Amino acid sequence: MGIKKEGIKLINEDGLRIDGRKPDELRPIKIEAGVLKRADGSAYIEWGKNKILVGVYGPRELHPRHLQDPTKAKVQCRYDMASFSVIDRKRPGPDRRSIEISKIIGEALENVIFTHQFPRTSIDIYIEVLEANAGTRCAGLTAASVALADAGIPMKDLIAAVSVGKVDGEIVLDLVKEEDNYGEADVPIGYVPRTGEVVLLQMDGDLSYEEFEKALNMGIEACKKIYEMQKDALKRKYVKVATEIVEEVE
Ligand code: CDP
Repeated sequence: MGIKKEGIKLINEDGLRIDGRKPDELRPIKIEAGVLKRADGSAYIEWGKNKILVGVYGPRELHPRHLQDPTKAKVQCRYDMASFSVIDRKRPGPDRRSIEISKIIGEALENVIFTHQFPRTSIDIYIEVLEANAGTRCAGLTAASVALADAGIPMKDLIAAVSVGKVDGEIVLDLVKEEDNYGEADVPIGYVPRTGEVVLLQMDGDLSYEEFEKALNMGIEACKKIYEMQKDALKRKYVKVATEIVEEVE
């Protein structure tokens, strides 16, 4: 964002973007629930060129005990990018960016998890980015919601998330890396379809009020589609489990 982009055209004469998408088109998304045996819940998402794995543990007793909250569970989220996930090797371990993303994803999820049902416990969410191409916080949050549901953790609803922004003066959905780097704005949105709440909203760059309204509406419409994919992933997982149980009984 904000890098000078002399001569780089992000939208062509036909109004199409560098990967051929229309302004309001999502990248291809594939979600799988229950991909890890040892975790209480898990999910894997491929979103364009992003590949992200999420493991969830808990609710489990929180250690050290002085960190326990007697009124509710503590939601602890760790977003991590593999060294090989980006073109320039990423230095392993937490940095400012991953600490920020862990915080905002954890806080978004606290809005939907019924934390008061599990005092003194922790719910641990591990988000591992294996390949990154912009929009990883949204893809990570989308997958984390599925992993929490897969763990059977009671929630108000899933959160669906997507990024919207502005490139070459146009409002566009689901930015790729070049659009994120050379565009004018990037706005990640986390949306709770059942309640209509927005639980994650950030803005890098500038938008006018009218542009922001248009971007928000575009993002919410896309979140409704992503929500269907999340539910479909969970249904497929439970059909698989039910089939395995039937086969065992027979
Ligand atoms: O991934 P997201 O868009 O949520 O976050 P960002 O901070 O806007 O990062 C945008 C993209 O920059 C990431 O998805 C990566 O593709 C890339 N990136 C990178 O190449 N090296 C890093 N150390 C961090 C991010």
